[in-house]
Amino acid sequence: MVSHLQSLQDFSKEELLGFINRAIQLKEERLAGVTHRQLAGKTVGLIFEKPSTRTRVSFESAMYGLGGQVIFLSGRDTQLARSEPLKDMARVMARYVDGIVVRTFGQEVVTELAEYSSVPVVNALTDLHHPCQILSDIMTVVEKKGNIEKLKIAWIGDGNNMANSWIQAASRIGFELILACPEGYDPDPEIMAAAQKEAVKPITVTRSPEEAVAQADVINTDVWASMGQEEEAEERLAIFQPLQINSALMAKAPANAVVLHCLPAHREEEITEEVLESEQCVAFDQAENKMHMHKAILELLIGCK
Ligand code: CP
Ligand code: NVA
Repeated sequence: MVSHLQSLQDFSKEELLGFINRAIQLKEERLAGVTHRQLAGKTVGLIFEKPSTRTRVSFESAMYGLGGQVIFLSGRDTQLARSEPLKDMARVMARYVDGIVVRTFGQEVVTELAEYSSVPVVNALTDLHHPCQILSDIMTVVEKKGNIEKLKIAWIGDGNNMANSWIQAASRIGFELILACPEGYDPDPEIMAAAQKEAVKPITVTRSPEEAVAQADVINTDVWASMGQEEEAEERLAIFQPLQINSALMAKAPANAVVLHCLPAHREEEITEEVLESEQCVAFDQAENKMHMHKAILELLIGCK
């Protein structure tokens, strides 16, 4: 059976930890100069309907680093832009490539591609989820703190795609998660309800960033207006201002808390330059780890097909 990565719900706790352990191992092997060729002769098609720096380049370099190759298609390059049905696109692509990585708007695009594709489909960000990012972020936390299950993770900001994937990770893997979101910007209620049913540690929403960062091991934020919400950006600036990660908020957190940001960052909006450039912030390690994580994902989904 073909394994797709549509959201973090597609995998068991052991499988999610398996991605993380394998990514750490692949990183160590790269540092040691090991050459990987386990995906030689394999091709991945990247369909990106939204901009990307990190995700695109790290998937491409991950595939080349495993001996494979990629074909990149921007939204306007394919017949999808001229209304070719997704179910046709999925079946055609699957006859040419060994895996499909897709960044798009609606989660239903990923669902339909996966339904009709006979090769693995990987979600590289939708409006609802950003699962690959959260896997590389957890990898970064494990590197810095030794584990994730004993930690308190704080999410400060919008209840967006990143927040939804953190919620699924917290329930499946089993760690404490507290999200500080302004009223009206909570995470997806269905995702939250499903996660809380399964969770073994608390997953809570608060309006208070101070409450969220108190005793937190990890403090995580993201842009206040995601891709596709550009028209709301100005309105959101005022609403989200009290949730800025700045030195005053960091003073309420433990001194050894690490700060995560998936990037791109809007300095002096969701995070100040001072905090982003501080020793506590590991955003650039997160960015690097996307490549190692994407290798692990591609290897495990495509190599074991
Ligand atoms: N973090 C992340 O997904 O960045 P890009 O939008 O640059 O891919
Ligand atoms: N929430 C952001 C993440 C960017 C990597 C967005 O969807 O634009």
